[in-house]
Amino acid sequence: MTGNAARWDRAADQYVRGEHSKGEELEQLPELVAPRPSDVVLDIGAGAGHTALRLAPLVSRVVVTDPSDGMLRAAADLFAKVGITNARFERARAEDLNFDDGSFDIVTTRLAAHHFEDLEAALGEVARVLKPGGVFFLVDTLAPEDAAIAAYVNEVESLRDPTHVRCYSKREWLDALRQSGLRVEHVGSARKTHDFEPWLARGGADAANQARTRERFLQASDAAASELEIVVRGGQVESFTDLKLVLTARR
Ligand SMILES: C[S@@+](CC[C@H](N)C(=O)[O-])C[C@H]1O[C@@H](n2cnc3c(N)ncnc32)[C@H](O)[C@@H]1O
Repeated sequence: MTGNAARWDRAADQYVRGEHSKGEELEQLPELVAPRPSDVVLDIGAGAGHTALRLAPLVSRVVVTDPSDGMLRAAADLFAKVGITNARFERARAEDLNFDDGSFDIVTTRLAAHHFEDLEAALGEVARVLKPGGVFFLVDTLAPEDAAIAAYVNEVESLRDPTHVRCYSKREWLDALRQSGLRVEHVGSARKTHDFEPWLARGGADAANQARTRERFLQASDAAASELEIVVRGGQVESFTDLKLVLTARR
């Protein structure tokens, strides 16, 4: 188990229901990756399994991976509850995938890449395990192109979640994917509004860092408050909205 897996083990229940179970990008997923009945899918940083679950009924089998045993158990329970049986659950980090070269038709990762300690290594692994012509589906929180707002987003995300590593801008993602040898085919985005207190609670920060995160939202610059559509009522942060990158790339 990696250092941050214990944080995810504790939080697994909160990822089964709630906002991770839905999203425009999950609706778009089948159309964007065009799964075939013979396809084998790998989901990386699968959490409670919502992304893999969308594809499982449409393909031959899915391999659901995450470094957290608690998350893998939550995902296995969710699959069992809805009677999906073509899935295998394996502990793995994105940076170190224990699979043969060219073994998957589709690789997905949704809302996990900002936790990867080594993005270059992770993208290298995606390119390695994809079959030639295979498709990579990526969703992650976008850092705004404005450097000051991007720094603010990464600051509050790190305060709220000690395992946050970094959100990247669209430009940074396109550069990183190009370097990994993957050919970008579709670049889109999805807006996601977060109820502030449940978002904060899910992050796993201690009480002091939760208080500091609330404070930093209330102190946001006008530019950051407008970019993130921060809603404050009666002196309390109610919600904010960010953009998720929704991208496909082909090996
Ligand atoms: C927000 S959850 C993912 C949500 C999920 N993909 C979905 O569609 O519902 C983030 C996940 O990233 C995982 N994670 C953290 N570090 C990771 C790493 N280095 N490699 C792969 N997954 C990682 C965590 O264990 C956690 O389950």
